[in-house]
Amino acid sequence: MPVWRIVGGDRLEGALEVQGSKNAVLPILAASLLTGGVTRLRGCPALLDVDASVEILRGLGCGVMQNSGEILIDSAKRPEHHVPHALMERMRSSVMFLGAILARCGEVRLSAPGGCELGARPIDLHLKALEALGAEVSHSGGEVVVRAARLKGTRIRLDFPSVGATENVMLAACAAEGETVLSNAAREPEIVDLQSYLNAAGASIRGAGTPEIVIAGKMPDRPLTEYTVMPDRIVACTLLCAAACAGGEVELRSLVPAHIAIVTDCLREMGCAVRIERDRVLLRAEGRLRACPAVETRPYPGFPTDAQALLMSACLKAEGESVFAENIFENRYRHVPELRRLGADIRVEGRTATVRGVKALTGAELTATDLRGGAAMVLAALGAEGETLVRDSGHVLRGYESLDRSLRALGAEVRMETD
Ligand code: EPZ
Repeated sequence: MPVWRIVGGDRLEGALEVQGSKNAVLPILAASLLTGGVTRLRGCPALLDVDASVEILRGLGCGVMQNSGEILIDSAKRPEHHVPHALMERMRSSVMFLGAILARCGEVRLSAPGGCELGARPIDLHLKALEALGAEVSHSGGEVVVRAARLKGTRIRLDFPSVGATENVMLAACAAEGETVLSNAAREPEIVDLQSYLNAAGASIRGAGTPEIVIAGKMPDRPLTEYTVMPDRIVACTLLCAAACAGGEVELRSLVPAHIAIVTDCLREMGCAVRIERDRVLLRAEGRLRACPAVETRPYPGFPTDAQALLMSACLKAEGESVFAENIFENRYRHVPELRRLGADIRVEGRTATVRGVKALTGAELTATDLRGGAAMVLAALGAEGETLVRDSGHVLRGYESLDRSLRALGAEVRMETD
């Protein structure tokens, strides 16, 4: 099992490029099934979740070539419509293939994605929306089967602005007859990136980033689509929170500062100096930070749930009390008992976590619980005295291209080993 070995105490200094977005590239990889041609994707991060999506595309019959940050997908041949359980269980977000395969094949069979570390992760909103488009949903042997002789554009309102459900509606509606109007849609930047890719592939979609998205339907085949994936806003938050935990001065390049303004505002309130330029953010953290203002995770443009654990690590030694409310996932404080092993003072009551800043943290042996929780442990260890081990059964590698190399480049003593 991979083990992170971190010796805390070093200031972080230097500049880094931000990797391509995991949560943008995954739905775009699924969407490449719709073009009936070749997609050349640039700016793809090297992640376990990307590898899992590539395996699914290959399993469906697509030709796929990966060459460092570039992925070539050929979906000219009509794909299979079944995703084997073994591939589905490697990655929860393979649920994005539901809408894409249904759009291309008129039917799809895949094992219902299980829950994960964050909670039950149901897909009821996805299935209800696909039924509104004319699909029939059934379940057999742990698999969900969705069939649609024809998809018909319609008006759909999501009960909750689910990111995945919004993406599945956009993908399925591309093949529908007539226009689909989706309201209460998720507004995340990754949804805008998916719209940009689909329009580059010949679709006609507008409104992504707002609560109402209009999809024209009957997307034509496109022999070649070229697209560059947006930068990863959560990786950017991770690296800035690392600087806040360890102290120092870090410059991030090739990102969209507006995507993380709500997080950089919190870091500024905590006493970090933050300078925003066109596509870069500079953060300087000196001395003891102040507690952060109350954090309530919300759908975008609210505070991102994926940054909750990351900012919490930056609060562990801050002066005063920081209060977090996790409103998106029902089980997203699993990193708290592990952070307490470093000496953190955190109290959890239901959806609220209260962090009381301590003067010092001491290295300990930790176990990563999920992707962002594991990253938060690595960050907290940067500000702890002595050595910390984080046992990680692959959680962090799912979402970070080379977090250890990035942190070492900034001066941290971080090694990935296998025990
Ligand atoms: C996406 O997950 C992201 N994953 C998550 O990032 C992110 O935390 C989440 O959006 C929220 O921003 C990818 O994009 C691959 P949701 P998704 O559907 O689409 C409930 C990371 O760390 N819900 O917006 O699964 C659900 O249980 C990952 O990179 C239903 O009840 O998120 C959750 O409580 C973690 N029924 C809430 O909505 C449904 O049918 C938000 O889920 C669908 C969702």
